[in-house]
Amino acid sequence: MIADFPKILTKNWHQPDSHTIDRALQNGAYKVAHDTMRAGRNPQEITDEVKKSGLRGRGGAGFPTGMKWGFLPKDNPKPRYLVINADESEPGTYKDRAILENDPHMLIEGCILASYAINAHDCYIYVRGEFWHQQHILNNAVKDAYAKGYLGNDCFGSGFKLNITVHSGAGAYICGEETALLTSLEGERGYPRLKPPFPATHGLFQCPTVVNNVETIANVPWIIEHGGAEYAKIGKYVTNAEGKPVIDSRGTRLMCISGIVNQTGVHEIPLGITVMDYINDYCGGLKEGATMKALIPGGSSCPILTAEEAMQAEMTYESMAKLGTMFGSGGMIVIGEETSLVWALHNLLRFYSHESCGQCTPCREGTDWLYKILTRMLAGKGSPDDLQEILDIADNMENKTICALAAAATMPTRTYIKKFKDEFVACFTKGGIPVDNRGRYLQPAAL
Ligand SMILES: Cc1cc2nc3c(=O)[nH]c(=O)nc-3n(C[C@H](O)[C@H](O)[C@H](O)COP(=O)(O)O)c2cc1C
Ligand code: SF4
Repeated sequence: MIADFPKILTKNWHQPDSHTIDRALQNGAYKVAHDTMRAGRNPQEITDEVKKSGLRGRGGAGFPTGMKWGFLPKDNPKPRYLVINADESEPGTYKDRAILENDPHMLIEGCILASYAINAHDCYIYVRGEFWHQQHILNNAVKDAYAKGYLGNDCFGSGFKLNITVHSGAGAYICGEETALLTSLEGERGYPRLKPPFPATHGLFQCPTVVNNVETIANVPWIIEHGGAEYAKIGKYVTNAEGKPVIDSRGTRLMCISGIVNQTGVHEIPLGITVMDYINDYCGGLKEGATMKALIPGGSSCPILTAEEAMQAEMTYESMAKLGTMFGSGGMIVIGEETSLVWALHNLLRFYSHESCGQCTPCREGTDWLYKILTRMLAGKGSPDDLQEILDIADNMENKTICALAAAATMPTRTYIKKFKDEFVACFTKGGIPVDNRGRYLQPAAL
């Protein structure tokens, strides 16, 4: 049964014209930003409400949003920037795209409120290059917001200046990593930068910058309208005897699911429900006759769960961490018994070796070596030593690179091999895995 909770992000999506400014205004868009700015509310109050809400970044790492805004240095005279990460390229993840298509004005209002809170007068929305259609919708929405006087030199007649620029991405997964995104936005090749210094002090054009995900910022208008405390009531929050939070997963979240379920798509869920409740109540359960073998909880970079682990998992950052994985970017993939995990890992490593930017040798060479070993294994030419070699290469990649892409490749690799070792062993004992071009066993009985 679907729990009763307020829909925050998807509440207007059932309307076919929900992306237009007329419909958005009928739905109450821009009222919170208007009232906040016309009343000349103290910007710190906006940050405080976001802190109170417990909102955590929805781009992958789950970092508390209000705290991130609070890291901007108070005494730095340089301009401040808000940068929205709409690069969304993680395999399995397609929820930011749905916000851009269905309610771009919710995102724009969130940008106005967040910019006001951090005193930024320029906001860039960096949209994945391939999202032509979504860029078109967003550009029209921004144009309409300017025409209404919500953006520009005098937002809502409040005297606050804010320009929003929609920037088309450079067509590489790595440009979603925040420092690569900033480098790309500056007109350079999208190479990640070493951290520290962090974007809070040395971000866009070396100025203080907040980088937030689309979904993160789309939550802000609701939080400011209803108050952070109201948002914090949704989801799961548990403290220990000393009053310290042991589960801090508040609000709703967009999940996007693919694989062997009846209703793939984007769903807004309250945090804290179980994975199986999500699959059964929101996604219509598993397809008839299908059996879950494994689950990727939040995008391809996440360590994989066995079906047994998935049955115990809750949709909280903490439950995922306890099971050795991550909630990531919300892209859940349910893998059925008929899919070869050797093939799945091969597919994943092809992606990471292709998307490595090449700056760091361990990542550039390591992802490619892993991919080549998997190619050999799939063809039935692997050996028992290959499994140990894969783990050794992973050891030599982790924590030795500029950004987290290398770990995004090795963390899942380790778990595929550890949890499904039999399938990998079958590769060299049975002369390779015969699969069709969709990765399904051609002769499951033989394995
Ligand atoms: C390789 C790589 C790719 C990433 N891709 C994205 C992306 O497409 N969208 C996104 O919001 N965050 C992505 N991130 C995370 C960002 O670096 C950053 O943490 C995030 O945009 C911060 O926003 P949040 O605090 O609102 O989650 C990626 C990180 C890495 C390491
Ligand atoms: S870890 Fe990989 S993607 Fe990241 S900077 Fe190094 S080479 Fe580039």
